[in-house]
Amino acid sequence: MISFVVSEGNLDGLLFLIYKLANSKYKIIRKHFVEIKRTYALITGASKGLGKALATALAKKGYNLLLVARSEKELNELSENLIKLYGIKASFLAVDLALSSAPAQVLTWTETNNFQVSILINNAGYGIWGEFSSLPLSNHLEMCKLNMETVVSLCYLFKPLLLKSTESYILNVSSTAAYQAVPTFALYAASKSFILSFSRAIRFELKNTNISVSCISPGPIDTGFAARAGLDPFSKMAEKFNMKSDEVANVALRGMFARKAEIIPGIANIISAYATRFLPKAFIEKTAAGIYKT
Ligand SMILES: NC(=O)c1ccc[n+]([C@@H]2O[C@H](COP(=O)([O-])OP(=O)(O)OC[C@H]3O[C@@H](n4cnc5c(N)ncnc54)[C@H](OP(=O)(O)O)[C@@H]3O)[C@@H](O)[C@H]2O)c1
Repeated sequence: MISFVVSEGNLDGLLFLIYKLANSKYKIIRKHFVEIKRTYALITGASKGLGKALATALAKKGYNLLLVARSEKELNELSENLIKLYGIKASFLAVDLALSSAPAQVLTWTETNNFQVSILINNAGYGIWGEFSSLPLSNHLEMCKLNMETVVSLCYLFKPLLLKSTESYILNVSSTAAYQAVPTFALYAASKSFILSFSRAIRFELKNTNISVSCISPGPIDTGFAARAGLDPFSKMAEKFNMKSDEVANVALRGMFARKAEIIPGIANIISAYATRFLPKAFIEKTAAGIYKT
C-alpha cells in the first residue's frame, strides 16, 4: 500500500501556499469586477420595454448606465429611480437614433463626459406590420435605418472605446424573426437576420480582443412592440407566447456575460429557431404568414 505522509510542518506550508494562491486569485477577480463596475453600460432604446428591463437588471448588479432613446421624460425618471434604488451612476441622452447624425452624437456625448463604456447594448428597434407594398417606402426605410444602420454605426464608432477596458461586451438585439422570412413583417425579419449575421461576423473578427459580441433573438415579449408595429388586434396570436421583459433581460445578460454567440430566451423559441434549419422554407413561411395574417 502506498501512503503519503504529510508532516505538520509540510501541512502548514501547503495550507499557506493554498491560502496565498486563493487570495491572489480572489484579488484578481475582485479587481476585475470593481474595474468593470466603474465603467458604463450604454443601452439604446432604454426608455421602455426590453431596454428598460436590461437597464434595471444591470443597475441591480451595480453597473453604471448611459441610457439613450427619444423619450426624455421616461429616461429622466428611469435614471433617477435607478440611481436612488441601486446607488449607481446614470446619465441619459434623448435623441432620435434614426437620424444619420445620431450615432456620432452619442459618441461625442460619451467622449465629452469621459464615460468609459465597456458594455454596448444595441436594443432600440421596431417592426412595421403589413404587406410590403401597401406601406409607404419612407416608413420601411426609416425602420431599416434604426434597425440596421444605427447598430452598425454604433458598433463601429464605439469599438475604440470598448478596446480600452479589460473586458468589454456588445449585445445586439435581434429576434426569432431573424431565422426565417416572415410575410407581413418582411423588412423587420430581414433587418433582424442582418443583425444576427453581422453580429456573428464581427464576433469572429474580434475573437482575439477583449470585446465579446453576442446577439439575442427573443420571441414575443410583453412590451410596446406589437402596438408600435400596428399589429391587428385579431392577429395577436403571437401574444399568447409573450415572455416578460425582465425574464428576457436576465437571460440576455447571463448569455452576454457568458460570452455566448447567440442567445434565444425560452424553450419554445429555441425549438422554433432550430426547426427552421430542418423544415422546408415554404412550410415555415406559410406558418409565419398564418400567425401574422393581415
Ligand atoms: N417585443 C417583442 O415582441 C420583441 C421580440 C423580438 C425582438 N424585439 C426587439 O427588442 C428590441 C426592443 O423592443 P421592445 O420590445 O422593448 O419595444 P418597445 O417597448 O417599443 O421599446 C422600443 C425602444 O426603442 C426605442 N426607440 C424606438 N425608436 C427609436 C428611435 N428612433 N430613436 C431612439 N430610440 C428609439 C424606444 O424609445 P423611445 O420611443 O423613447 O424613442 C424604446 O425605448 C427591438 O429591437 C425589437 O425589435 C422585440
